[in-house]
Formats: sequence, structure tokens, C-alpha cells
Amino acid sequence: MQKVIKSTDLNKDLSNILGQLSFDKLFLLTDENTEKFCYPVIKNNERIAKAGKMVIKAGDGNKNIDALASIWTYLSENEATRHSLLINLGGGMLTDIGGFAAAGFKRGIKCINIPTTLLGAVDAAVGGKTGINFNGLKNEIGVFAPAETVLIDSVFFKSLDHSNFLSGYAEMIKHGLVDSDKEWKATISFDTEKIDYDKLKQLVVDSVAVKERIVELDPLEKGIRKALNLGHTIGHAFESLSYELGKPVLHGYAVAWGIICELYLSHVFFGFPADKLHKTVRFIKDNYDGFYFDCDHYDRLYEYMKHDKKNESGTVNFTFLSDVGKVEINQTARKEAVFDSIDFLRECVGL
Ligand code: GLY
Repeated sequence: MQKVIKSTDLNKDLSNILGQLSFDKLFLLTDENTEKFCYPVIKNNERIAKAGKMVIKAGDGNKNIDALASIWTYLSENEATRHSLLINLGGGMLTDIGGFAAAGFKRGIKCINIPTTLLGAVDAAVGGKTGINFNGLKNEIGVFAPAETVLIDSVFFKSLDHSNFLSGYAEMIKHGLVDSDKEWKATISFDTEKIDYDKLKQLVVDSVAVKERIVELDPLEKGIRKALNLGHTIGHAFESLSYELGKPVLHGYAVAWGIICELYLSHVFFGFPADKLHKTVRFIKDNYDGFYFDCDHYDRLYEYMKHDKKNESGTVNFTFLSDVGKVEINQTARKEAVFDSIDFLRECVGL
């Protein structure tokens, strides 16, 4: 099982982990940003200082086959073996592509994820989903391949810009919704303007625990792990279209808007309580601005939903809630109802 360490002393925990694992050569994958801002935090570690360091371009648009090939080329040219270890230091883009590179190199080498963004810590780095974007489709190619260890330290979150903080926070809202009233209330009452980092640290620990519990029950997403897809069927369509239009939105913004649509559908189909819908919508509306799609885009958005890899037998697969903590997986919705939910979102966020 994947080990997730919520660290308070990153260098000490990293040294311990490296001391416990057996490997011949150590490699470190960073991107242009994490090389500059996060690598300095660990670079004095003796083993890290000697590791083969790779730097790829930052941004989800670079989570592609060329970047993947460049990682494999580096590993190969620097004589990585099947017993080598890769450390992925970065956000969700970096741990996704690094995890996939590790899973494919010589049929699989071990890796450690050190997420440097909130999104990476609460979602991407944990649970073993790895992959790249392909043919304009998000995470189209990939495998389930959990990192040996995930080392989470909130030291990196303080330097996140507000949009990237919110992008990660959207996944925490989702975890609250699929888990319990207690978690949900805690996430939607958090003051995102004046961030109390001690409070945030505890919320992150609780949020990661929600994901760990679900992934442990269903690592390969055959059943209950689909709970974690709440907000993502429509959210991924917003995200993909934003890239197509050349106006990329951060993953968590698209997910937050997707959550509004899918909670609306949850209300229509499963009686998700109106007061909880409105409280969640209020929080998202207050925090996640910038929605710019209009009805001319609906058909294109629906096309993206039809391509979603969560679908089975050609129907768009949704996760709905009948209440906070009560998950209804493997649901479908008529196209008209989906369009209604996007209308609802546009009314809510003011377009
Ligand atoms: N991001 C959802 C999952 O890991 O299942």
C-alpha cells in the first residue's frame, strides 16, 4: 500500500525514507518553477545533491508525449536501471507525468512524490493515477501506478499564488462533499482570503485522509473510488474546452464549476438538499470567478463529456450525491438536463 507521510520536517523525513529504500541511482524530476522555488528546500540533502536532476517545462499543456520522451531519454542516457529511484518534486502535472515515466521505464521503477502544490497534495500525488494528455484530451494515456511514498509538507503552500491555492482547494470541497457534513462544513467555512495556515494544515490532513480511505477500498476505480469523480465529468469538459479556446483555466476552477453543475443534477435526480446546494454554490461563487463559456459552447462541452474515460458503453458517466456523504455512482443524465445544469451554473456565477 502507498505510504502517505504528512511531514513537519521534510528534510528529516526525506532522509529517513531514502535510508529505508534500496536503490542504485537516484533521479529527481522538477519543472522550471519547482527547480527554482522548491528544489532549494531539499538540495542540501546529501543524496539529493548527487541525484541526476531533470527539469521539464511547467504547466499542464506540457504534460505531453514529448516531455515524457525527454524524461525517458535522460534516464536512459544516465544509465538508470530497474533498481533506480525517481523523486517527483512538483504539482499535479509533474507527479502525473513523473509517475507515468517511472511506471514505464524498464517496465517500472520506484518513485516518491513530493507534491509542492495544494492540488498535488490533496489529489494528484496520492492514489496512483499517472499519465499524460494526448490528442487534446486530458489524461488520455496513463496507468494506475502508486508512488512508493508520498511526502506532504505544507512548507510549499505558503508560496502558492491565490489561484493555485484555490485550484487545490476545489478538490478539498469535493472531499468534504463525498465524506461527511463535518468535513463539508469545515471546507466551506474556511476563510480563503485570510488563510490561517495552521488551520489549513489540519484541513489538508483530513482531506488527504478522505482520499486515502476511498482509494484503499477501491484502488483501480471499479466502484466507490468513482466518488472522487464528483464535479469532474463536466469539470474536465470545461478544462478541455478552455485549452481548445486558448484560454486555459486551472483544473480546480473547472472542477469547482463542475461541482455546481453536478450538485444541481444531484438535486434534480436524487433530491440533494437545496440548502446544502446553495451553501456550496455560494462558497464557489464567492471564490471561483472567471467562467466565460456560453450556450454556443454547450455542444462542444458535451462532445468532451462523451470522450471522458470514465464512460462505459458510450454513455456519459456521472457521480451524484443524494446528500453530503451519500454517493450515487454510475449515473447518467439526459443531454438536456446537463445543459440545464450549465445554465444554472451561468446564472449562479453571473453570466
Ligand atoms: N482524482 C480522483 C482520483 O484520484 O480518483
